[in-house]
Amino acid sequence: MNVLVTGGAGYIGSHTCVALLEAGHSVIVVDNLSNCKRESIEKISQIADVKVTFYEMDVTDAQTVDVLFRNHHIDGVIHFAGLKAVGESVEKPLLYYVNNLVSTMVLAEACLQYGVKRFVFSSSATVYGDNKVPFEETMNLLPTTNPYGETKAMSERILTDIVKANPKFGVSLLRYFNPVGAHESGLIGEAPNGIPNNLMPYVAQVAKGKLKKLKIFGNDYPTVDGTGVRDYIHVVDLAEGHVAALDNLTAGVHIYNLGTGQGTSVLELVKAFEEANDIKVPYEIVDRRPGDIASCYADASKAERELGWTAKRDIVTMCRDSWWFEKKMSDQSVSSTVV
Ligand code: NAD
Ligand code: UFG
Repeated sequence: MNVLVTGGAGYIGSHTCVALLEAGHSVIVVDNLSNCKRESIEKISQIADVKVTFYEMDVTDAQTVDVLFRNHHIDGVIHFAGLKAVGESVEKPLLYYVNNLVSTMVLAEACLQYGVKRFVFSSSATVYGDNKVPFEETMNLLPTTNPYGETKAMSERILTDIVKANPKFGVSLLRYFNPVGAHESGLIGEAPNGIPNNLMPYVAQVAKGKLKKLKIFGNDYPTVDGTGVRDYIHVVDLAEGHVAALDNLTAGVHIYNLGTGQGTSVLELVKAFEEANDIKVPYEIVDRRPGDIASCYADASKAERELGWTAKRDIVTMCRDSWWFEKKMSDQSVSSTVV
């Protein structure tokens, strides 16, 4: 298939481009480079040994998107392009609603107009809110605590309504859990700009000595050791989940959790990182972070049943690949993604 990958120069998009190319698909990458570097396109080509077509463009711009669809035969779209910083979305809600919703609507409109029947959307486990774990696709969604999360829930509803009116259109809503790790080459990965918000990059930077100590946000949650539990998934597994979703996509709306089904606490992750990489990660316990929930992990059985996909890489591999990328990036001072 000829696959349009929006946000394909970013963290998850770049790994998915590699997986698509390795599976024999062609990719057209579009990205406005607002949160990544152009070099990631060369790195994708280098890993997969295939030339990648790339356009620097903003997918909220309907006219440019129309020209793109007119000039290329597209069999399917994987729509990653979006803003994703939870805190920033609280401060700049309009930026998030416009970017994340308009892009989805513009692309869906182009698909309908040009007869493209496969649309894969990057959603998030955040749409489950504080439901009971493990999260199942059939659960009622609960309000999220921030505009970013709302853009995901709203995009899901918009796409579902579009399919109701256009029953031949196929949409896959992929709810990601916590993507971590990097490609084993160390060429692509996630390189947050400034102080990371997310746990794994923070841990890697503490290990590297860039940050002094990890702050663990609360140890009084009702979990195995009191610290927050999440379902960490290797980004390469996540990328392969997209290929499976695209290959199996039929008309209608299909929702899949992409997670491992395993919960790992903050303390467990720190221990795994220390053991996998033989390095110390100093930490202190501080207050809970507002908006955090105690536990978030997937029931990942639907994706296995219907797509034949499961996550294969364990927490040790995730820690090892995150560390390898951090070391390589720090040594070369080159990042593929800037968050
Ligand atoms: P990322 O920031 O690395 O990638 C997103 C890419 O989209 C960036 O390269 C950015 O430059 C581009 N972009 C943003 N707005 C654009 C626009 N209007 N036009 C063109 N390009 C645009 O983020 P990621 O971690 O790779 O996330 C990809 C998608 O997955 C996002 O939609 C995100 O919300 C979603 N998601 C991510 C996580 C996570 O923890 N990383 C979890 C759940 C869902
Ligand atoms: N944590 C710390 N210290 C830190 C960072 C995080 O203790 O410095 C803890 C958090 O309290 C939480 C766990 O580590 O218990 C994971 O936190 P992350 O910030 O890495 O991830 P979240 O689960 O909070 O959020 C992520 C994405 C969201 C997405 C959500 C749902 O950042 O965009 O997963 O899947 F919506």
